[in-house]
Amino acid sequence: MASYRTLDDLDVRGKRVLVRADLNVPMQDGRVTDTLRIDRQAPTIRELAQKGARVIVLSHFDRPKGKVVPSMSLRPVVEPLAKAVGRPVAFADDCVGEKAKAAVARLKNGDVLLLENTRFHAGEEKNDAHFAKELAALGDIYVNDAFSAAHRAHASTEAIAHLLPAAAGRAMQSELEHLHKALDDPQRPVMAVVGGAKISTKIALLENLLKKVDFLVIGGAMANTFLAAEDINVGKSLYEPEFYGIARRIMGSALDTNTVILLPSDAVVAKELKPGAAHRTAGIREVGAEEMILDVGPNSVREMTNRLIEIRTLVWNGPLGAFETEPFDRGTIEAAKAVARRTKTGDLLSVAGGGDTVAALNKAGVADDFTYVSTAGGAFLEWLEGKDLPGVEALKASKGS
Ligand code: 3PG
Repeated sequence: MASYRTLDDLDVRGKRVLVRADLNVPMQDGRVTDTLRIDRQAPTIRELAQKGARVIVLSHFDRPKGKVVPSMSLRPVVEPLAKAVGRPVAFADDCVGEKAKAAVARLKNGDVLLLENTRFHAGEEKNDAHFAKELAALGDIYVNDAFSAAHRAHASTEAIAHLLPAAAGRAMQSELEHLHKALDDPQRPVMAVVGGAKISTKIALLENLLKKVDFLVIGGAMANTFLAAEDINVGKSLYEPEFYGIARRIMGSALDTNTVILLPSDAVVAKELKPGAAHRTAGIREVGAEEMILDVGPNSVREMTNRLIEIRTLVWNGPLGAFETEPFDRGTIEAAKAVARRTKTGDLLSVAGGGDTVAALNKAGVADDFTYVSTAGGAFLEWLEGKDLPGVEALKASKGS
């Protein structure tokens, strides 16, 4: 049994249900440009409305730092949210105070109301008890469906969960179940694929993963620091000499934990990073002094994908090369396609997350073929680091109360 309540445990008919969503979606010129997060969270709102709740949606948008910033209003989200939920969505210009109270009072069973950006109030990010109380006064029940904001101990994600009966929404539930299967209670062997530019941002993550996985594939520019720490010439590639010590420590710990670290054995190198730049594939010890490593090479991809036959669980965060710039997207795309194929045959549980990772999987056309793709950025990273997420912990505490 889960350690938190879900919608299955609630009787919501006629109740005012505050749903913390994460509607911090990509927007350009006041228009939502990507509805993935909205689509993921719509089922919770729809289910509650269908069950006769009066649904009040709370969310932050961007980082207005406690002030009203008109360009950071949630109003442009009303229409795409209504479309995704399949019912009209009302809007209130504030998330607390008279405007919010009046809008809530107008709700009938099955209605949906979106409140303005919680971060327009300084109390939100301070996890302020008084502000949380004002939010809680608008509802009878609290549902958190915003895993991607669960690493923030804010009033609408943390403090409020202690003031009302609290439960996880369907998106939150699905995220937690998949993450649990991926790292807490996985089928073995487990492989983690970690890429991205800098080792400096992923030290805690790598150290935690070492304790949990059997194979750790390191790609992206961060692999260069590991290679350089082994006295391999990486030419003009991006690398972080100040982290040689950490790279060596991680490689040493891998021996203790019996984790196989797979570093690139070859690379796609070029003298400049621009679309279509002249490039070549080089063995990892053959990178020229003027060259940069911009992608993993075909041998490295093969060494990873050949292992997939024995792997049962795979977690992926970060691209393996400079995937935004062709042709340096190849390694990531080929590896992602191989993971997708293996997942489709039912032999592999694959979970990916992080903004760049999702973009790379979309580019490869395989995002739908992974078992689960998280829409969370920071929260997914903190989970990979093994940290407790305040928004999730508060739901568990509520279950105990
Ligand atoms: C995200 O997009 O990762 C979440 O909405 C959290 O946003 P934040 O980093 O501004 O807290």
